[in-house]
Amino acid sequence: MTLILGIETSCDETAAAVVRDGRVVLSNVIASQHELHEEYGGVVPELASRAHLERLLPVVRAAMREAGAGYGELDAVAVGNRPGLIGALLVGVAGAKALAWSLGTPIIGVDHLEAHLYAPMLSRDPEAASDIAWPALGLVVSGGHTSLYRCGSALELTKLGGTIDDAVGEAYDKVAALLGLGHPGGPKVDALAQAGNDKAHEFPLSRLEKDSLNFSFSGLKTAVLYAARGQPERPSPSEAPRFLRDGADMTDAAKADVCASFQRAAARNVMLRLERALEQSPGEFRTLLVGGGVSANSRLRTELATFAAKHRLALRVPAMEFCLDNAAMIAGLAHERLIAGAVDDLTLAASPTTSR
Ligand code: KG4
Ligand code: ZN
Repeated sequence: MTLILGIETSCDETAAAVVRDGRVVLSNVIASQHELHEEYGGVVPELASRAHLERLLPVVRAAMREAGAGYGELDAVAVGNRPGLIGALLVGVAGAKALAWSLGTPIIGVDHLEAHLYAPMLSRDPEAASDIAWPALGLVVSGGHTSLYRCGSALELTKLGGTIDDAVGEAYDKVAALLGLGHPGGPKVDALAQAGNDKAHEFPLSRLEKDSLNFSFSGLKTAVLYAARGQPERPSPSEAPRFLRDGADMTDAAKADVCASFQRAAARNVMLRLERALEQSPGEFRTLLVGGGVSANSRLRTELATFAAKHRLALRVPAMEFCLDNAAMIAGLAHERLIAGAVDDLTLAASPTTSR
């Protein structure tokens, strides 16, 4: 039996988790800082770092307590060391190093994006854990990234495409801000969309070049802006556009229609890339592997299920508690690294960019 403590501090969640044998989640503690950043409409890096510093040890203690594990039983300490806000990452990396050093265990740095794609393998129930049929087409849909990978295993990722502007979660958050729904906006747009007409607006799909597996969401975001605030007047090119109204003043029914139509277009954008990826490598993939905060989206989950069934792919999406940023995915993937002998040492550095 292998026990790994995972730590995650890349953005605005301070998280720690204990995972057994890379699969069974014994604890998954997440202290979210949403209330701290709410009034700014987005994450303020300095506030995030300070909050991580205050919360890291209590969160680690809670994860160990909940797992019923002793520090002496840990086989490794894992930490998300990239990508993310550098000051926020540094808190987790420094904390993980101190723990690993004092316990005499290996330290394992994990790429946050790779970890999101590992999340479908995690379960609270020891009976439910099952293997993945490789190779998989991997899709990361989060607040910072929208990327496609060919995955030969949990550790062998080759990037096929990524967003050239906004990430899909970022587009969700901006649409929510535009409609005055608060931050983070994804879950709020998702909820409001349930009451809306998804055909009320015909928002554009970005196709980019014919064979491109890249994504773009900025055109969609601008179309939503105009639908919500009206076509702006621009008295002269040097002046800022003047909008007729504020998106937050729309009726709830009108907002619901915008949310539903946006969500249809956002999901379609993603599905188009998945279709292209399959066309370019016919018969290659056995599994569709999905992770990241937007994999919690109800519409995307439904469309992914239909798509996977049509193309005879096994669909692996994370359980809801492992979609958003968490440390269980960090500890889980670290187990793969541990058995592959790919551990780090105390020179482990944090980095704002992904290795993928
Ligand atoms: O993976 P994550 O927790 O953080 C990053 O690595 O970025 O993803 C956060 C993103 C946010 O943009 C949030 O609005 C979005 O995931 N999100 C959703 C839903 N739940 C969270 N987007 C759409 N529908 C949801 N239900
Ligand atoms: Zn994430």
